Amino acid sequence: MKLKDARHRIMVVSGKGGVGKTTVAVNLALGLAMYGRKVGLLDADITGPNVPRMLRLEEEIFSPQEDGTIRPAFLQVGPGQGIEVASMAFLIGRDSPVMWKGPVKIQMLQKLTGDIDWEELDYAIVDLPPGTSDEPITISQLLHPDGVIIVTTPYDVALLDAEKAVDLARTMNTPILGLIENMSGFCCPRCGERTDFKTGGAEDAAARLGITFLGRIGIDPQICDSGDSGRPFMLNAGTAAAREFDRIVVGLIERLEAPDHEDNDR
Ligand SMILES: Nc1ncnc2c1ncn2[C@@H]1O[C@H](COP(=O)(O)OP(=O)(O)OP(=O)(O)O)[C@@H](O)[C@H]1O
Ligand SMILES: [Mg+2]
Repeated sequence: MKLKDARHRIMVVSGKGGVGKTTVAVNLALGLAMYGRKVGLLDADITGPNVPRMLRLEEEIFSPQEDGTIRPAFLQVGPGQGIEVASMAFLIGRDSPVMWKGPVKIQMLQKLTGDIDWEELDYAIVDLPPGTSDEPITISQLLHPDGVIIVTTPYDVALLDAEKAVDLARTMNTPILGLIENMSGFCCPRCGERTDFKTGGAEDAAARLGITFLGRIGIDPQICDSGDSGRPFMLNAGTAAAREFDRIVVGLIERLEAPDHEDNDR
């Protein structure tokens, strides 16, 4: 199937770089798969594709099937469980620097979303580069998502940038599923205890902007390590980060799969 035909399509965006979009996108895809959903993860960060590193898929390349279609990579995470993954890096290799202008980027996004043959998907999760430029606008037009998840940190500058992402989504008429506050307080990896410095900014901002606050994820050295080692934190059940994020996943499933959710007729 084409990505646009996935039952639910979610874009992960932020106004500012480095706030944890890829971390959220990867763990959301895995979290949904753990609840038995069929999930495809598209890395639409053309100039800085980080999904392959976070999932240890750096060696992956697309190879067309006999019938000319391209299949995504499959990452198994348990018996009968896994996610399909596609990234620009599978097309051009991870070491090639990419300096493309808008029209070429748009063409590549059309290729990434149009040419790949996914399994029947319940969810398409799209990881985007920071900011409000070509990629989120193009993906929103191509996939007509259920909505965007905006990731921010609790710090003022990132919150201001998150407001730009809210404005962009509203201008594009793309629903906003809500805001996640990442790097919110410090979660001790030994005792699991949490120190709540600088938290709550995003919750206040969400209330002010009239959007849903989806939850928060603490600063956790294990999350940083898990990003580098290619073993996302959702695969380490029982950790504070996995528990916090599980609540976000369950909340999204309940909302998007509720019988009265407007997109469930597709
Ligand atoms: N809660 C957290 N605690 C500790 N480290 C984190 C946390 N969230 C993300 N990180 C780390 O911060 C770095 C940036 O995260 P990530 O790549 O997910 O951000 P991004 O918003 O996708 O960045 P970019 O804008 O460059 O695409 C990564 O090394 C990641 O492992
Ligand atoms: Mg990223």
